[in-house]
Amino acid sequence: MHKTIKDITEMKGKEKITVLTGYDSTMVTLCDQVDVILVGDSAGMVMLGYEDTTSVTMEDMIRFTTAAKNAKKNSLIVSDLPINSYKTKEDAITNSLKLIEAGADAVKLEGGKDVAKIIKSITELKIPVMGHLGLLPQTAEKYSVQGKTRENAIQLIEDAKIIVESGVFSMVLEMVTSQVAKIITEKSSVPTIGIGSGKDCDGQVLVVHDMLGLFEKIKPKFAKRYLDLSEEIRNAVKSYVTEVKEQTFPADNNEFQMDETEYNELRKEIV
Ligand code: KIV
Repeated sequence: MHKTIKDITEMKGKEKITVLTGYDSTMVTLCDQVDVILVGDSAGMVMLGYEDTTSVTMEDMIRFTTAAKNAKKNSLIVSDLPINSYKTKEDAITNSLKLIEAGADAVKLEGGKDVAKIIKSITELKIPVMGHLGLLPQTAEKYSVQGKTRENAIQLIEDAKIIVESGVFSMVLEMVTSQVAKIITEKSSVPTIGIGSGKDCDGQVLVVHDMLGLFEKIKPKFAKRYLDLSEEIRNAVKSYVTEVKEQTFPADNNEFQMDETEYNELRKEIV
């Protein structure tokens, strides 16, 4: 059954929420058993080969959202608003509507107090918004753990309160110390989805290319690798190259044959 926003919010305190990123139909079909598919702007790195998420455009996110929508049967789809797409309330609304039209059930954007009014303008139109606090890849100068000092912890806790008041239905906590993530989770009425933020969050999200061992450029310690697919793919490609060179592929059962009489007639005609 297709998950709804209500299903996700009602899971808080009862059942952990599972989230994986997904940007293409093949992968989303395979991952559709999770509660939420996040069409994240991490697509910029794992799908488009950029260094970070700052070059991702609305056109990119619409295309990835469409691909996810075409495949999913069960999971809720949340799509990232890319950098510069929610600078003004007008931009935020127009671009959120574009992602919803492409098939997203909700949008996600990064920031706390600084984006509170933007979040409110979207949620007032009944478009569900997922917040994102802690490490904010769209604006971070370097990727570092958040909530290590008392001061920073207080700011995160305050930001969480503000975005909940602005109407988010849940929030990602990225690379937040486990203690601070636990406090935010206990104090928030909406589910927290952690990535590198410990086990007390209401749910967990991983970039699917990390958890399958497909992305080799960065290997963050929080991203448990459940498979080593890059190794398997390299081995498969190696076998393919060898078999084509040695002419053991295609084999008889990979070929299509003409009717023999037709073939003999053809040979006579073309010589
Ligand atoms: O873009 C993304 O994949 C994300 C997750 C890392 C939470 O925002």
